[in-house]
Amino acid sequence: MAIRMIRKDDDDILRKISKKVEVIDERILTLLEDMKETMYDADGVGLAAPQVGVLRRVAVVDIGEGLIELINPVIVFEGGEAIDEEGCLSLPGINGAVCRPKKVIVRAQDRYGKTFEITATDLLARAFCHEIDHLNGILFTDKIIPDYKQDKE
Ligand code: NI
Repeated sequence: MAIRMIRKDDDDILRKISKKVEVIDERILTLLEDMKETMYDADGVGLAAPQVGVLRRVAVVDIGEGLIELINPVIVFEGGEAIDEEGCLSLPGINGAVCRPKKVIVRAQDRYGKTFEITATDLLARAFCHEIDHLNGILFTDKIIPDYKQDKE
């Protein structure tokens, strides 16, 4: 395993569309391991392959409830809306309010190639949406609500 360099800021690769994984080979398994290690090392809750310079539809997420590996993830259901602050390991120092679905169902393959569906709400739903956006070259800063003030007691 190895910690990979996280691509940042205006690196062009963050704007490219990642390709579907057709075969889960050693390279993809190594990529998953490295992404996991890189995410934990950077204290992130998610990481998508383009963030480490690989244009493949692979992401890892852990919001503190355990690691979830996603290969070829797609959102098959979204419901509700929730606005909350987001950040990104590729955009250090930037935070902003983004509207995401409150609930999503994501379909993906695991490292064995088995297709699964996972239902997520709130932070986990947000993390899935954020990472899947990365696979399409979309950054959260594209979606920031300007001058949004959260109602906090
Ligand atoms: Ni990100």
